[in-house]
Amino acid sequence: MSELLRVENLSKNYMHKGRWWAPKRIEALKNVSFSLNSGETLAIMGETGSGKSSLARLIAGAQKPTSGTIYLRDQALRPGDYSFRCRHIRMVFQDTDASLNPHLTIGRQLEEPLIFNTELNPAQRREAVADALRKVGLLPEHAVFHSHMMSTGQKQRACIARAIMLNPDIVVADEALAALDSSIRAQIINLLLDLQRDMKMSYIFVSHSPEIIRHMADKVMILRQGEIISFDDANTLFNQQNDPYTTSLLQQTYTLG
Ligand SMILES: Nc1ncnc2c1ncn2[C@@H]1O[C@H](COP(=O)(O)OP(=O)(O)O)[C@@H](O)[C@H]1O
Ligand SMILES: [Mg+2]
Repeated sequence: MSELLRVENLSKNYMHKGRWWAPKRIEALKNVSFSLNSGETLAIMGETGSGKSSLARLIAGAQKPTSGTIYLRDQALRPGDYSFRCRHIRMVFQDTDASLNPHLTIGRQLEEPLIFNTELNPAQRREAVADALRKVGLLPEHAVFHSHMMSTGQKQRACIARAIMLNPDIVVADEALAALDSSIRAQIINLLLDLQRDMKMSYIFVSHSPEIIRHMADKVMILRQGEIISFDDANTLFNQQNDPYTTSLLQQTYTLG
């Protein structure tokens, strides 16, 4: 298996407005380094505030690192190079209502990445949208729907369809399954696994659910206070004696997503 993603010494600081003479610096990520092979799925676990969302956003290019470099197939990703990044790395969010535009049809929203990143003509784009809708278990007819006409599960499928429009190498999901009830969650997990088999994508997902991680992940990263405290094969993690922090994460319930 070849190396797909390499993260070197990634750090992210935020300045919190305190008193003007003493703004508080939060070190959300401290010198995070790891690599992932193509087709592998990485799960990121950690308590609230440990830096999971910051890492997901940095990888997806939604935020700039304070320092450090992310390489995709040995090519350094530059902050701001959105067109390269969005062809290769896409993000799916937990809040489907916030990530879909209520004023545009689903079809228009799926077409958007094609308009900006491909030479396809309108008829070809329509066909690609219908194809993506079928791939995620929706119908081509859903292209004319607005998001308020769809269930939560259908909306999450539409978001996944949008994420895969450009055949990305990596889909990053930050607690994307947390808002779904358990039967729909199981369907979406199976959908993600089917898509991965067909499209050979890597997933990087933030989750609290040992169930989801056991089902999907090849590698598991445990973050604590912005640092990686372990990075292992999922099997190793579940079969070994863990430190108390990791054990408590693994004992959390399904409901957190
Ligand atoms: N946009 C932001 N502005 C300021 N501080 C932030 C911002 N996003 C996250 N933080 C802080 O960075 C730390 C890590 O947050 P986050 O990456 O959201 O962790 P997690 O997803 O594990 O809960 C927390 O202390 C959080 O308060
Ligand atoms: Mg978070």
